[in-house]
Amino acid sequence: MTKFYLIVAMDENRGIGKDGDLAWHLSEDLKYFARVTKKTKDPNKQNAVIMGRKTWESIPDKYRPLKDRLNIVLSRNADYMVVPDIKLARTFEDALEVAEENKVETVFVIGGAYVFEQALNRPECQGVYLTEILKGFDCDAHLAPIDKKSFERVEESEIHEEKGIKFRFVVYRTK
Ligand SMILES: NC(=O)c1ccc[n+]([C@@H]2O[C@H](COP(=O)([O-])OP(=O)(O)OC[C@H]3O[C@@H](n4cnc5c(N)ncnc54)[C@H](OP(=O)(O)O)[C@@H]3O)[C@@H](O)[C@H]2O)c1
Repeated sequence: MTKFYLIVAMDENRGIGKDGDLAWHLSEDLKYFARVTKKTKDPNKQNAVIMGRKTWESIPDKYRPLKDRLNIVLSRNADYMVVPDIKLARTFEDALEVAEENKVETVFVIGGAYVFEQALNRPECQGVYLTEILKGFDCDAHLAPIDKKSFERVEESEIHEEKGIKFRFVVYRTK
């Protein structure tokens, strides 16, 4: 069983994005995302990031594929694109298999809403790295509820602030 974690930033109304993009720009959160998803215990290994096709398209060209991580993009369209250095997966199971075959250390599911919803309901899900943004934004993509019966909150950072927006980094693990 290939285990994975979610990593997601969410506002106080569960909003995670708007018009195919994020609804905020918090450089400290982007740095946290990079740090968590790149970090490995074994210096010879890398981690994998699994994302939906729409999230892939939302990443500016100059930042994709996300470097130092195996990028796995989910699309039902087998001809979607041929980009060297990324892996295309046609089902969630495929995506996990690709991660397994490539012997990555940790697998992170990085969005978007549709992919998070599937991920939260899978037995391989080990936890959620959640950036709680303590403000409401106009969003059209939302995170499915994190079931309090299945997850416990195990870490919570102090409150950070950038551009007048307060936020904190929390970690949920499956019970
Ligand atoms: N705040 C955050 O942390 C965060 C993180 C990531 C994204 N976002 C935001 O989330 C929004 C995008 O979310 P979204 O729900 O619209 O799109 P998405 O989840 O990024 O992508 C959905 C697409 O992924 C493919 N897909 C998903 N599950 C699949 C499966 N099981 N098998 C095969 N293909 C699968 C399909 O592509 P095809 O249509 O090609 O088949 C589907 O249309 C954006 O606003 C983005 O900025 C926020």
